[in-house]
Amino acid sequence: MRHFVYFSSKAVTSGKALSGEKGKGDLMKAGRMDIAIHSIISAFFLSHAFRKDVKMHLVFYGPPDPPKHIEMQIKDELEISKKDVGNLIKKILYKYTPGKKKEVLPGCFIEKKSFLGVIDELMNEGKKIFILDKKGKSIRKETIPENSVFVIGDHEGLPAKELKRLKKIATKISVGPKMYFASQVITIVNNELDIREAERS
Ligand SMILES: C[S@@+](CC[C@H](N)C(=O)[O-])C[C@H]1O[C@@H](n2cnc3c(N)ncnc32)[C@H](O)[C@@H]1O
Repeated sequence: MRHFVYFSSKAVTSGKALSGEKGKGDLMKAGRMDIAIHSIISAFFLSHAFRKDVKMHLVFYGPPDPPKHIEMQIKDELEISKKDVGNLIKKILYKYTPGKKKEVLPGCFIEKKSFLGVIDELMNEGKKIFILDKKGKSIRKETIPENSVFVIGDHEGLPAKELKRLKKIATKISVGPKMYFASQVITIVNNELDIREAERS
């Protein structure tokens, strides 16, 4: 399983906030939810297929009730369309129940958990943590074990305070010399892992 952790300091944390006034939500105004949506599409969608070997962790710190951790994995029973990922996130946020990690739709969980809390849990499960950073070591030169975790920031990057702690436990890797969109980074990492898997088989 490949794990992507997408951090957003501004993405809204309730279904109502994502709906906006009179249900006409503007994804750009919902803390750049458009970036989260593009990242989900890059994580899961292939031409005529889904990636079932990916878990996406979205950690949102925007108003009104941060932090929220949404965990998503593609299951056969999950209704997901590239055109409607925003609505799917809205449904998941609406179904949040305080004090619980709840499977609100097939393969989709929501809970209140901090960014470092999510990373700590994955690390305690024995997974290797990689921070995606333009200045990191080239991904092509790095050994990447199965079940690795890739941490990616939104348009504002990763939070400075948490990053300080994260650097002690994680390895910084780069996917190239340009600053890419979060969704493009996910595509490149998936592609790199696809190539390695194909070479092994
Ligand atoms: C649009 S970039 C963030 C730009 C933000 N202004 C900053 O300085 O971090 C979104 C995320 O993609 C990842 N990223 C962008 N370019 C990358 C690269 N060349 N290698 C690895 N990760 C990259 C980083 O995790 C970054 O937080």
